[in-house]
Amino acid sequence: MAFPKVNPTQTNAWKQLTVHAEQTRDRQIKDLFAQDADRFKKFSLTFEDILLDYSKNNISDQTKSLLLQLAEESQLKQAIEAMFGGEAINATEGRSVLHTALRNRSGKPVYSEGKDVMLDVNGVLAQMEKFSNQIISGEWKGYTGKAITDIVNIGIGGSDLGPVMVTEALKPYWKSNMSVHFVSNVDGTHIVETLKKVNPETTLFMIASKTFTTQETMANAHSARNWFLTSAKDESLVAKHFVALSTNAKEVQKFGIDTANMFGFWDWVGGRYSLWSAIGLSIACTIGFDNFKALLEGAYAMDQHFQTTPFAENIPVTLGLLGVWYNNFFDAQSHAILPYDQYMHRFAAYFQQGDMESNGKYVDRNGTPVTYSTGPVIWGEPGTNGQHAFYQLIHQGTKLIPCDFIAPAITHNAIGNHHTLLMSNFFAQTEALMKGKTEAEVRDEFIKAGKSETEFAPLVPFKVFQGNRPTNSILVKRITPYTLGSLIAMYEHKIFVQGVIWNIYSFDQWGVELGKQLASKILPELETEEEVTSHDSSTNGLINAFKSMRNI
Ligand code: F6P
Repeated sequence: MAFPKVNPTQTNAWKQLTVHAEQTRDRQIKDLFAQDADRFKKFSLTFEDILLDYSKNNISDQTKSLLLQLAEESQLKQAIEAMFGGEAINATEGRSVLHTALRNRSGKPVYSEGKDVMLDVNGVLAQMEKFSNQIISGEWKGYTGKAITDIVNIGIGGSDLGPVMVTEALKPYWKSNMSVHFVSNVDGTHIVETLKKVNPETTLFMIASKTFTTQETMANAHSARNWFLTSAKDESLVAKHFVALSTNAKEVQKFGIDTANMFGFWDWVGGRYSLWSAIGLSIACTIGFDNFKALLEGAYAMDQHFQTTPFAENIPVTLGLLGVWYNNFFDAQSHAILPYDQYMHRFAAYFQQGDMESNGKYVDRNGTPVTYSTGPVIWGEPGTNGQHAFYQLIHQGTKLIPCDFIAPAITHNAIGNHHTLLMSNFFAQTEALMKGKTEAEVRDEFIKAGKSETEFAPLVPFKVFQGNRPTNSILVKRITPYTLGSLIAMYEHKIFVQGVIWNIYSFDQWGVELGKQLASKILPELETEEEVTSHDSSTNGLINAFKSMRNI
């Protein structure tokens, strides 16, 4: 089955959606609620412990059916089957896309280019289970015979953000004898500050890199190794303190890590989809393998939901289509992810890479520049912090920013009435964004407060909220490893849905290459004191200014 290559603008649904958007642009979401008492029921979906309420969007039955028609005409069903079926849908790299195989708990085979990958997947999972048990139980000893107390994961992008986000989100599940640290930035500050916190005798370094050639990771890995050897003084002891998480055995060996201490994965795992693979070893060693397995199980459950549920009730499909509606028919440029859960403070940052590296493309699957907007800018911070920072712009700015609000019904930290305070804000924000405040309401408030017309009249325009800002609310029972797994998979599939509709390749990332190439050209230029003249005048000027500044 060939991966579809449908230009979305040529579909009937797109043409109809264009007309429909013009007709409904000024429709008020609050009026839609007034017209239909069943709106919440009609436009919400439940999956296990996850409730998605998407009723506070500018949509009607007709909008929904046109968006579903767009999914059909874009051949989304075939695309989903092609991905799960292991076809080489990452065509520009000639690879299949099978992060779903990493969490396949069905016991059934999954084929990539005719080969069942499950034997390898389960083999590495067994290796991770054994290793994480040895680390957590203290059976694995450092070079002076002490148990490991600190893990330092050295990786960047997908080899960092997933483990960071998950370990932070699941902090209540951390094993009491284990701490985890992450070093990603090539800025020496990152590794220096991290190494200040750990002891070489009790620290395990995980060098996480799919390619094992990434400049930042290799620089940090070498510095960590030097730091370790300053204390251990014996190269043979590296084996007790360094493991590699990679697809590249040759480079791992070259670095000096025994391949017995390597946890492998495969080229069909995209970096930003790799937390489910050996890249998740820091997660397994921090929360325990059973919890890591629960994370996989939650993701697997969402995979099945995505693969088998009719599009009208399919959560990732619904989220993807709503995003397309605003991105392409309302010119929304960004999308905010706003978790009302402090532990999930890296969730938006994680999906910045997940979404923007996947769908930040202007060339379609035919190699032609697109004539429509593709991936949005993804951003966000936890509530309620964001409310006191950037929500002003969401409420009263000139840009339309669709938002996802995410919150757990049960907190891990029940202290006083904090959770009800938090949740009252969660509910209030989406209501405020939708309803706004009319001029009449503002005036009424002033009058009730005893103000005179002359006093309040000049202030009225500033206090009016237009409202009609769309939001999704994602309410979950509790953030457990299982639920988090489902939530992550939900967003992964939302990204997939949008990539299919936009007719782009979501699983390559050629756009990160040019900067890397130029940096490696500039590096030797920074290592001499000679004046640089090989670039444009700005780049030359900056490099030469840098050289003279560093010498002062
Ligand atoms: O910056 C591009 C990228 O290739 C990401 O896609 C990837 O997650 C990151 O670099 C790290 O790559 P690696 O795991 O190979 O070190």
